[in-house]
Amino acid sequence: MKLIFEKGNKGRGCELLPPCDVPITEVNPNFKRNIELHLPEVSETELSRHYTELMKRTFGVNDGFYPLGSCTMKYNPKINDEMAKLPGFSEIHPLQPEDTIQGCLEVMALAEEYLCEITGMDRMSFQPAAGAHGEFTGLHLIRAYHKSRGDKKRDKILVPDSAHGTNPASATMAGFKVINVPSTKEGLVDLEALKKLVGEDTAGFMLTNPNTLGLFEENILEITDTIHQAGGLNYYDGANLNAIMGIARPGDMGFDVVHLNLHKTFSTPHGGGGPGSGPVGCKDLLAKFLPSPQVMKNSDGSFRLEYNNEQSIGRVKAFYGNFLILVRALTYILTLGREGLKNASESAVLNANYMMHQLKETFSIPFPKACMHEFVISLEKLKKEKGVSALDIAKVMLDYGIHPPTMYFPLIIQEALMVEPTETEAKETLDEVIAIYKQIYEEAVNNPESLHNYPLKTFIGRPDEVMAARNPILRYRAE
Ligand SMILES: Cc1ncc(COP(=O)(O)O)c(C=O)c1O
Repeated sequence: MKLIFEKGNKGRGCELLPPCDVPITEVNPNFKRNIELHLPEVSETELSRHYTELMKRTFGVNDGFYPLGSCTMKYNPKINDEMAKLPGFSEIHPLQPEDTIQGCLEVMALAEEYLCEITGMDRMSFQPAAGAHGEFTGLHLIRAYHKSRGDKKRDKILVPDSAHGTNPASATMAGFKVINVPSTKEGLVDLEALKKLVGEDTAGFMLTNPNTLGLFEENILEITDTIHQAGGLNYYDGANLNAIMGIARPGDMGFDVVHLNLHKTFSTPHGGGGPGSGPVGCKDLLAKFLPSPQVMKNSDGSFRLEYNNEQSIGRVKAFYGNFLILVRALTYILTLGREGLKNASESAVLNANYMMHQLKETFSIPFPKACMHEFVISLEKLKKEKGVSALDIAKVMLDYGIHPPTMYFPLIIQEALMVEPTETEAKETLDEVIAIYKQIYEEAVNNPESLHNYPLKTFIGRPDEVMAARNPILRYRAE
């Protein structure tokens, strides 16, 4: 496919700008570019066709089944976009006087109130732009808390071996040492090992519940209590909140700080690099350290932005985070309501269990008892016996027009495929996919060699994944 820079012709499409109706001022030569501005010069038809062609080469939740475990690729209702498009939200400037953006401040206040209620937290900041960014922010809250108490020796964050890679990465970036906590053979946090690892140097513990194996931590109260007893704080990675919305709250499980991935649980766009939103919520004891400004309600019912937070860890993003993403998430919450959110989680768990039970005779499922919103398949045996890897299976799925599950995660499962169907898939779709998975497995057993050649129907087959990750060519260089 040609790049947009390689399409069109000189002078084409330039009349899109209206004639200048203000006096022309000479620009200081120091600020002028001294090389030609190389912009695509295409007609509207070419532009439209270009983006349609690009669109056909991508795969999103609107194209088909997208069970990317841990990522919660649920359908994004169109009403979310309708609300975000309203001029009162989309045509404002972040530096406008507060009395002209009262509606926007109310959106932030309402979203904070509802998300705090859903998570059991007391306050929230919407600045972080993604889950990992939320982790980084939340860990800084933990750091600020210990520092404010003069407790300087707490420099370790405990992280289970099943954790998402961003957990240890964020802890390291926030200046902590990471201590790995092993899992039991049942796939849960090894409480006895945890008890041996905690101590006077424990700053905190990071956990997602249900965990990355799709299992609810049965000993969660004892786990969080163990950390509290040692003087540490508990961090909830909210990536898996879709399993428990309206049913269980991290705040009631003993967590002190959480991040949410609005682009997962709360049906805002996900993928392609965002814009995402990873709000951080905390209990009162950490609220004074949150990034400022915070939205506050005045006694007359109006709202203001509060900047006078001397102990704040500071800003982690410009202004107030990805505000229009928040509008979408609030729309989702208001549309579904209390019961709707609970139903969404219940259906997510039901869909995952339905798929797992239909597949467990065919595939090896290391933890086959009831799962939460996702489950993990291991293809270790298939790889050993037939030479067919998780990657091979994932590649065939592309030819069936469905997106593969998350691969090779969590790291503690060999040849892992992590399936999260989400609540927005109908039973008919699940049945079709289950039949496809079984058919692929049969082919892998009977004709393993053929599995190394797929996909045959996609634009790109098997790119060099190391090169694509390590040396991506993302910029067009003009001649
Ligand atoms: C368990 C878990 N934690 C954290 C993250 C990081 O979230 P984000 O991709 O929004 O940075 C993810 C992302 O998939 C995740 O699955």
